[in-house]
Amino acid sequence: MLVGRDAEVERADLLVEGILSSSGSLMMIDGEAAIGKSALVGAIARRAQQRGARFALGCCYETGMPAFASWQQLLGELRLTGLNLDQLPAFESLEEVALGR
Ligand SMILES: Nc1ncnc2c1ncn2[C@@H]1O[C@H](COP(=O)(O)OP(=O)(O)OP(=O)(O)O)[C@@H](O)[C@H]1O
Ligand SMILES: [Mg+2]
Repeated sequence: MLVGRDAEVERADLLVEGILSSSGSLMMIDGEAAIGKSALVGAIARRAQQRGARFALGCCYETGMPAFASWQQLLGELRLTGLNLDQLPAFESLEEVALGR
């Protein structure tokens, strides 16, 4: 249970509604260390999954990371949801990234 995040969750629910009816969305969640960004994303993700959405995460780290690492994580997680990236023409080459090739 998140305290004091009803407005943000409500806004995200509306964006998810749009995503489920095929319009893309972007929501930026910004804040100080330990303010609750990950917890909020987790709550939004759970609610979206309950409505039938797939959720996958691609993280970046301030300390630096290998090129495409966040895409590799994102696509790998999408594959774990059962999505066959091979069936999406635009993702043909990214399937290789997801497999770490
Ligand atoms: N709205 C909230 N209500 C109750 N607990 C919360 C809330 N937001 C965050 N917390 C708790 O506070 C702690 C820090 O939250 P969280 O890890 O989400 O912060 P963060 O902003 O992602 O941190 P970082 O900058 O280190 O990534 C966690 O234990 C989380 O469960
Ligand atoms: Mg975090």
